[in-house]
Amino acid sequence: MKQRQPDMVYESRAGISFPAGSTVLIIGLGLIGGSIARGLKKHVPSCRVLAVDPDPAQLEQARDSGAIDGFSSEVDDLAPQADLVVVAVPTLAVENVFRSLSGKLRRDAVITDVASVKGSVEKAARQVLGDGCRVFVPGHPIAGSEKSGFNTASADLFQNRKVILTPMAQTSHEAVLKVNCLWRSLGAEVLGMASAQHDEVLAATSHLPHLLSYALVDVLLQQTRCEEIFRYAAGGFADFSRLASSDPTMWADIFVANGEATVQVLDHYIAQLGEFRRWLISGDHATLRSRFSQAKHARDNFIRKHYQAMKENITEASRQVRYQVAPGGKVAGDIRVPGDKSISHRSVMFGAIADGVTRISGFLEGEDALNTLAAFRELGVTIAGPDRGELTIHGVGKSGLQAPRKPLYMGNSGTAMRLLCGLLAAQPFDSELTGDESLTRRPMKRVTEPLQQMGASIETGPTGTPPLVIRGSSLRGIDYTMPMASAQVKSCLLLAGLYAEGRTSVTEPASCRDHTERMLSGFGYPVQRAGATVTVQGGGRLAATTIDIPADISSAAFFLVAAAVSPGADLILRHVGVNPTRTGIIDLLSLMGARIERLNEREVGGEPVADLRVVHGPLQAITVPESLIPLAIDEFPVFFIAAACAAGTTVLHGAEELRVKESDRIQAMADGLAVLGVVHETFPDGIAITGSPMGGGVINSHGDHRIAMAFTVASLRAKAPITILDCANVATSFPGFVELAAGVGIPVKALTDGEAP
Ligand code: S3P
Repeated sequence: MKQRQPDMVYESRAGISFPAGSTVLIIGLGLIGGSIARGLKKHVPSCRVLAVDPDPAQLEQARDSGAIDGFSSEVDDLAPQADLVVVAVPTLAVENVFRSLSGKLRRDAVITDVASVKGSVEKAARQVLGDGCRVFVPGHPIAGSEKSGFNTASADLFQNRKVILTPMAQTSHEAVLKVNCLWRSLGAEVLGMASAQHDEVLAATSHLPHLLSYALVDVLLQQTRCEEIFRYAAGGFADFSRLASSDPTMWADIFVANGEATVQVLDHYIAQLGEFRRWLISGDHATLRSRFSQAKHARDNFIRKHYQAMKENITEASRQVRYQVAPGGKVAGDIRVPGDKSISHRSVMFGAIADGVTRISGFLEGEDALNTLAAFRELGVTIAGPDRGELTIHGVGKSGLQAPRKPLYMGNSGTAMRLLCGLLAAQPFDSELTGDESLTRRPMKRVTEPLQQMGASIETGPTGTPPLVIRGSSLRGIDYTMPMASAQVKSCLLLAGLYAEGRTSVTEPASCRDHTERMLSGFGYPVQRAGATVTVQGGGRLAATTIDIPADISSAAFFLVAAAVSPGADLILRHVGVNPTRTGIIDLLSLMGARIERLNEREVGGEPVADLRVVHGPLQAITVPESLIPLAIDEFPVFFIAAACAAGTTVLHGAEELRVKESDRIQAMADGLAVLGVVHETFPDGIAITGSPMGGGVINSHGDHRIAMAFTVASLRAKAPITILDCANVATSFPGFVELAAGVGIPVKALTDGEAP
């Protein structure tokens, strides 16, 4: 990826003028305020930095070191010059600063803060700023330390650190974009959250530990032999009490401001301490030992799974996980599977390039969609959430994306890589797309070749595989007939077509999923369909909208088959997306004689939805109609399990696409079916499977989520236990699969690393 001067990135074609050439007024030049000043001077040298602080020595030191261009002890003289004001004072002092700013700022000047509590700051903003909340973006950089003062400030304090923004309902969209740009220019990763969620999370993870650390030192101080105690204290004391070296005013402020949320977790803690006290008095070694081992396990896990992972960018899907499934479960229940993966990806992409704020519910919090989310954050979009499936996307408009500072990692997701490739090919900046081992083997020429015809400049690996190095270009529309029925290719070209000069038309050889077309219409972008051809005209705009994502039929499919093959089963799946371009699996199972009822059919945000009821019934083999293949393309692994449970031989031809999915799904399934003793024959473009009694054994999922889940379902008819290896990637599409499957009666357990059953 071509490196650009960071300040150029922000001035460039994106149409957002901050921060290059802007005047930033920092109120409070401590560790955070000082680091913002130093960071701006280093990374955006054209920026003019002014500061207000009650300490003249600190101000002079800042000026002499070149971190600021001017200062004052009062805001009055400097406020009218500011494009952006950063309030970097202790939490409870924010309100007074708001008062001092009142009536002195230019109308378009934006205000942000860095306080560790957001609810109290929002309240102060509502009271003091009133209408001015329009330009206020509450923020919190997670980058402090126990050190304080300008002399501890560093230009790179925020590099690769997280900054949480909690925009208020009144906050203008432009203000959010500006503050995002500020933090981005300082190297930070910008996240979004609701302020209440922020304060609750921080109370537990940051505020309570600080309180306990202060309290411990305070308790020891009150002991008569405290001198002696401190003399002999060593590493344990130093570790536990490090937080008590933090700035006392700042922390007294935080506890007063976030008292309610902190008291809630503190009360739990005190109750728990009471228990520990009882165990100490009774000398209950066994209980202490068991609680300590639980805590040790949880802490070790946190360090390995979250903390270390966060530092080294390790994802859930990169761990070793195997499934142990006992044979012969019984299926019953009423469940909702997670949100649709295809729609989740698209909702982020279109929300990001729309004008305005898009709100999404039902978002799939799986690794694939989360990687897409992270990619758009890196492209400069402020996204709040996901919080229980809800996302708020502050769209930057079609020309508002920013050049990424690093390659965008698409994990396991072909959809994310191919769709993003179309979008990025049309941007005025360069970018690079990478992925995991499986994605790195998947063919990309199917998108790069037509994009090149549109004028794109993209380099692939020697065999047409990722990484993709994309040079930003201007594109022109084309008429393209796809050689395969691929919704990914179609969507990639339509995304590029939004930016291309003229019309872009894509013709599909057979009907394939149409979420892109539906969603574009939902965002108010005209899409024409004539027969098998879809057309968009470049140059239009997308208007932000609200999206309710239905449950993923591709995830529901595992349970459709589970209930269909399990004697006595009766299962309801709620709110499943039944877009006719996705319901091939219902058609295939129905052709086999499965009893699937659609209840409560309705339309939600342009997508048809229904509850599905499945009861067990005997299945008969079928020959798969070719027209259904693209409509069930992701469901074949579990469909093959249905075929293995049906009477007779089911035959599939014309499905060579299955060989280039997350794994070669024909071979991976054939290998697994062989382990279970199912009679089958493979073809280059398909497979024939004869219903057979199934044994157990060890199956390699080849890291393919759908293979892992398909063989979990097979256990319902197996005569012996099944172990499935390499299952971590289930987290890419179906977080919570094991719990949900176990909940409806499939006896599956997930074991990690060296864990014994
Ligand atoms: C998808 C399209 C399908 C499917 C993939 C998701 C999409 O791929 O296999 O899981 O969201 O557009 P192809 O269209 O390339 O077959």
